[in-house]
Amino acid sequence: MLLDYDGYISELFAPEDDALMSARAEMLRAAMPEINVSASEGKVLHLLARIIGAKRILEIGTLGAYSTIWLARALPPNGTLITLEINPQYAAVALRNLKRANLSQKVEVKVGPALESLSQLESASEAPFDMVFIDADKEGYPTYLQRALPLLRVGGLLLADNTLPDNVLVRGADSGVKRFNAEAAAHPDLITALVPVLRSRGIDGLLIAVKPGKR
Ligand code: SAH
Ligand code: DHB
Ligand code: MG
Repeated sequence: MLLDYDGYISELFAPEDDALMSARAEMLRAAMPEINVSASEGKVLHLLARIIGAKRILEIGTLGAYSTIWLARALPPNGTLITLEINPQYAAVALRNLKRANLSQKVEVKVGPALESLSQLESASEAPFDMVFIDADKEGYPTYLQRALPLLRVGGLLLADNTLPDNVLVRGADSGVKRFNAEAAAHPDLITALVPVLRSRGIDGLLIAVKPGKR
């Protein structure tokens, strides 16, 4: 039932072209888990990047670059996306998928534990990011929040996938995502919402937060 609604939305608003379809096919061929965002959620990510005119995007958790393609397609010609992936085999598939999507110029895949890549980014003192999309190991979410915020510009968006796991309804149950949600909701430097999204297994969540400026 929920899937029917998602099919309706995707068909109308998020049809896949060859590059996106091939990306999923390549992930299946490589026996990678089917845990990429849906097409409809990919379109939401794309739209959010467009709305804020993102020129620099950071993604934590690449898999086969399916979400990466949706995001990078929102960038202007001189825009860049850096995506962090711990698994070198997944990163190799991601690079091939990005090449097929003609996005090799705009996207850099950093292979290694995200915390190490984040340390590099901190010390590189590059321009801040307009958007950070957190989608890697769920226990790492609270740390990714703390580490990503200083890299985000004022007015920038912090997004996080898989933020409505089943255990949010279990009182007293603890998980990285529950702690992340609570910290993002209460953070003095963030204005935050949690938007439900449809998934094959049911419902999930996309957390959306902005780092507001002084007003
Ligand atoms: N964003 C992707 C899905 C990412 S799945 C999409 O929607 O298309 C989560 C990914 O995070 C997996 O590829 C996994 O290998 C990676 N990952 C897990 N722990 C990590 C870590 N510590 N550092 C970097 N990547 C990690
Ligand atoms: C799972 C789903 C995801 O979207 C993700 O990023 C990681 C894991 C899962 O269903 O296990
Ligand atoms: Mg996810």
